[in-house]
Formats: sequence, structure tokens, C-alpha cells
Amino acid sequence: LMNVDYKEAFEKTKVAGSIAAGALDEVGKIIKPGISTEQIDKLCYEYINDHGAYSAPLFYRGFPKSCCTSTNHVVCNGIPSENILKEGDIVNVDVTALKNGWHGDTSRTFKVGKVSVKAEKLIKATYESMMEAIEIIKDGVHLGDIGSTIQTYVEKEGFSVVQDFCGHGIGETFHKEPNVLHYGEKGSGEKIKTGMIFTIEPMINYGNYETKTLNDGWTAVTKDKSLSAQFEHTIGVTKEGCEIFTTGAWTWASVDACMLGLHACVRACVHACVGACA
Ligand code: MF3
Ligand code: CO
Ligand code: CO
Repeated sequence: LMNVDYKEAFEKTKVAGSIAAGALDEVGKIIKPGISTEQIDKLCYEYINDHGAYSAPLFYRGFPKSCCTSTNHVVCNGIPSENILKEGDIVNVDVTALKNGWHGDTSRTFKVGKVSVKAEKLIKATYESMMEAIEIIKDGVHLGDIGSTIQTYVEKEGFSVVQDFCGHGIGETFHKEPNVLHYGEKGSGEKIKTGMIFTIEPMINYGNYETKTLNDGWTAVTKDKSLSAQFEHTIGVTKEGCEIFTTGAWTWASVDACMLGLHACVRACVHACVGACA
């Protein structure tokens, strides 16, 4: 019976997650120098509405927009505005769809035109750290194993893990227990169980890990003004591993990898890339 329950929850999360991922797919097509983050917000709002869902961020605790757009040294929760993206910027777009009462939460960091080698490395390490963590997930793994996997990967690359924000349980509620920290000690924390649904969303800084929140009450930035990148997937734990609900169509894993220029594509192939990246 437990089994049936969680599979239904997985199905519903996948429907919501696919809409959120689909919105990001569309965002990827319009990102270029000269567009405003408000245009990204409008697209997300419309895509999600057109798919019979709600944008969970809109009016969430007073948040005024349908997605978060976090540019350069903004760590997370950036508010879309008329600010124009320019060549060389990086921008994380974070989308959460609420469909039939269930949430799907996902984000990606996009490159605006050609970016510095520095930015490229940061984006790649952030994505890889998330995928490394996703690959160790299965029933019985400790939450600390997830954090440790991300922290170890990222620090080896010379970057730092933000500690002020974390991943979270998700379902009929946008943010619920457990907190999923992106740093920590192996073997620490609770053991995750089959049927659990949560996000992994590492925020990785080029410089120091510390953040501060601006006067708008939302926008979190790096204290040292260094670049910050983030990716986010919503996943469900199984006995053997986990299911990613925010890849959307089968091509998603390969699109993620292609966007980042990972044409060797080792990891995407694990996640059902059918050679699109070769
Ligand atoms: N989408 C963010 C997350 O990953 C939360 C944003 S809250 C908002 O958990 F109000 F800023 F939208
Ligand atoms: Co989240
Ligand atoms: Co999110």
C-alpha cells in the first residue's frame, strides 16, 4: 500500500516537474544579450499557465513574480525586473510549477552570450556537483552523504558552498522537511527513505561562501561580490536509486549537458541521453 501511495505522488510530481522543466527549455531559447529578466518572468508565467498550472513563487510569502532570476553575484531569489542582461552575464532561472496540488521545482544557470572561462568553470562544477549527489541517492543514504558529496566536489574545484540556503522536501507543500544541506559530513543526518521527494539545489560561489540579503527582503548576494551559480532538480528516492522529476522530455539530460558544452556526455548518458550529445 505504501508502494502505491508513493508512486502516485511520484507521478504527480513528475507532471508538475515536467512543466517547470519545459518552462526552462523555453527560457533557454530566449536568453541572449538585450533581454530583461522581466521577459523571462513573463514567459514562465505564460508557459506555466498554458499548461494548466500555477507558478508557486507568485505571491509566495509576498514574492512578487513567477520565477526567480539571479544574475552574476546574486546567489538566489533574485526578482525579475526591467534590468537588461548583457553579454558575459550568467543568470539562474528558478521555476516552480504547482499542478493538481503538487509542486515541481527546478533551476538552471544560463550563459548570456559568451561568458568568461571562470564563469564556465563555475557553472560546470555546480551542475556536476548536483549530478554527483543525485547519483549516490537511494534508500538508506544519509542526508550528510549528499552534502558531503557536493562539498567535496566543489571545494576540490576551488569553489565554495553556500550555507544560508538549502534543498527541501516538496510535495503538496512547496517547502517542507527535510532540509537538504549542500555541505556536511558523510554518515551524518537522517537516512533518506524510499518515497521521499526533495530538491537538490546547490548554490556555489567562485569566492567566499558567505551571503547577505538585500533590502528588498529577497535578493541574496555573495558578500564578496563573486560569481554564484545554481542548478536544481526535484527527485524521488527509490530502493535502488532515485527518479529525477524535472528533466522533462527524454532529451533533457542531454540538453543540460549540451548547454554546458559537456560533449563527452558521460553523465547525461547515464540519464538516458540517446546520443544527442555525441
Ligand atoms: N524556487 C526557490 C527554491 O528553490 C524558492 C523561491 S521562493 C520565492 O526553493 F518566493 F522566491 F519564489
Ligand atoms: Co527549491
Ligand atoms: Co527552486
